[in-house]
Amino acid sequence: VNLRAWNTFGLPATAQTLVHIEEEADVRRVVDHPEFGRAPKFILGGGSNIVLARDVTACVLKIEIPGLRVVEERDDAVIVEAGAGESWHRLVAWTIEQGFGGLENLALIPGTVGAAPVQNIGAYGLELADRFDSLDGVDLVTGRGFTLDRRLCRFGYRDSVFKHELAGKGVITRVRLRLPRPWQPVLGYLDLQRKMEETGIAQPDARQIFDWVCAVRRAKLPDPAVIGNAGSFFKNPVVTPEQCRDIIARDPHVVHYPMDDGSFKLAAGWLIDACGWKGKSVGGAGVYEKQALVLVNRGEARGAEVLTLARAIQESVYGRFGIRLESEPILLG
Ligand code: EPU
Repeated sequence: VNLRAWNTFGLPATAQTLVHIEEEADVRRVVDHPEFGRAPKFILGGGSNIVLARDVTACVLKIEIPGLRVVEERDDAVIVEAGAGESWHRLVAWTIEQGFGGLENLALIPGTVGAAPVQNIGAYGLELADRFDSLDGVDLVTGRGFTLDRRLCRFGYRDSVFKHELAGKGVITRVRLRLPRPWQPVLGYLDLQRKMEETGIAQPDARQIFDWVCAVRRAKLPDPAVIGNAGSFFKNPVVTPEQCRDIIARDPHVVHYPMDDGSFKLAAGWLIDACGWKGKSVGGAGVYEKQALVLVNRGEARGAEVLTLARAIQESVYGRFGIRLESEPILLG
């Protein structure tokens, strides 16, 4: 099976076996299968946070479980549930259409609902963890169902238990979100502040914020349907106050944000930009012109070229600022 159409970077790679998972029972069928049951598995959602730098030998489970529904409407919250195979953005748009605010800051994030908890997607001042209720999954060894609440998912910045202890061990089949009532806008992020000033709208509703987030993302981030990419390629590094002071001494313009625990988060895009990478290429892999944190496929990129470019960026940022950038998407190869 050719996976090119199933990874948003558009990288060429093949898989020997690909199984479409349309319901929970399909996972159990794979677990009970004489051949695939014990084989290593690779769980594929929208393919928007992976870099395929080699062919996949594991049995690929392509998650296509559908469904969007309101579970419960309470005074303090609305609980909605989505099948893991639904598009994340479709879920956000659907809640807005139903009149339920709460997910608008996370509009237009590529990928599926099932992938969202794995890296705790976040944007414009909000993270999935802030709206997460619980999820259901199926264990890939026993075939048993499980449910995890927020605490058990151990969410961190672009991180969760699914990147550690549970990596590759279970399939997320359904996710429930908790949309608090009364709705409260999240408007702290600079890009949204600018929109408020531009439009003179001081009290936007959820639909307005949804539209603003879509507009900001369309202006800054490449549409994977047009230019292959996997969103931010590196995490924003978190440093100690001493490290932050050291970096400011190297360049006083460095973009940095104070965190609740006293540490500082640096804008990786700024660091990469400062090293002169914007618009540069290695073979078919390039650094996006409008946002240096995003690596793109200029046409015929190979996964190896993406990794070579990423390593060169890491080395140059380390050389200039002493910071080691960690990759954000899951790398194969
Ligand atoms: N910047 C530059 N040059 C660049 C890119 C950025 O100077 O080439 C500066 C910007 O001017 C800004 C700062 O860096 O002052 C931060 O940039 P931006 O607001 O675009 O956000 P980001 O930190 O680069 C993060 C997330 C995005 C998310 C946006 C909005 C990570 C790794 N990335 O990017 O998430 O959409 O904030 O909240 O945390 C993703 O994870 O795939 C992703 C796209």
